[in-house]
Amino acid sequence: MEVIIRPDKGEAIELAARVIAKALRERPTLVLGLATGNTMEPLYAKLAELHKNENLDFSLCRTFNLDEYVGLAPDHKNSYRHYMNEHLFNKINIDLRNTHLPHGMAGDLDRDCEKYEEKIKECGGVDLQLLGIGKSGHIGFNEPLSAFFSRTRVKALTPTTIAQNSPLFDRPEEMPKRAVTMGVGTILEAKRIVTLVVGDLKAEILAKAVEGPVTSMVSASALQLHQKCIVIADEEAAANLQGRDYYRWIFQNEPEWEEFR
Ligand code: F6R
Repeated sequence: MEVIIRPDKGEAIELAARVIAKALRERPTLVLGLATGNTMEPLYAKLAELHKNENLDFSLCRTFNLDEYVGLAPDHKNSYRHYMNEHLFNKINIDLRNTHLPHGMAGDLDRDCEKYEEKIKECGGVDLQLLGIGKSGHIGFNEPLSAFFSRTRVKALTPTTIAQNSPLFDRPEEMPKRAVTMGVGTILEAKRIVTLVVGDLKAEILAKAVEGPVTSMVSASALQLHQKCIVIADEEAAANLQGRDYYRWIFQNEPEWEEFR
């Protein structure tokens, strides 16, 4: 794992966007794993800007989102399909047939989860997986005690996650209590992972995920096991990290980051 600290949220997002853009330019058929949530909104705005102003081409890109609420139709304004169309897909030149999300309303959810895994394999696996971290330590909707070998499946959401996301619903009590999510095992199979974490509300959980013990009580700590995982944090989210000076040194001095400085 490599931790990169940027001075503020804007620079953290800019860096994440540049890393994704570089990967897409190097491999136009990139299989991109996507996340939703507040953290990703300005990142998707930045990617849309790179498409518009710097011809970043998504025409051959394939995408797989991490998760979707159980019981929400794709056109529901709180569904993640709706979120992705609004924040990214409608603003870039992606072919919507190449964009995939789990179905929250499939008749046979278990079978649908298996099909989702099969589709990822058919596309050759995820090349670059984008992640955020929830206050419960989840990645995707892998709540505490998710097995590190878990695959796409239905997961019950914790009270912490319900408190985090229910204000986004007109009637908070209508937020679904279950979601379909890629598993921790599915996520760990991505060839590269970019995790973006910003803001002081994430400082405590980021320190547990990055420097704490690897434990299924904090699903994001599983990222310590991945060979090519970058965590991009702003100073606020990085505030509790013991190794902050070292992480800052890496970005300023390592040759691989030169083009991004
Ligand atoms: C949602 C997802 C979640 C979020 C996490 C952080 O698709 O993958 O793990 O990344 O809940 O959400 P925000 O950015 O809203 O704090």
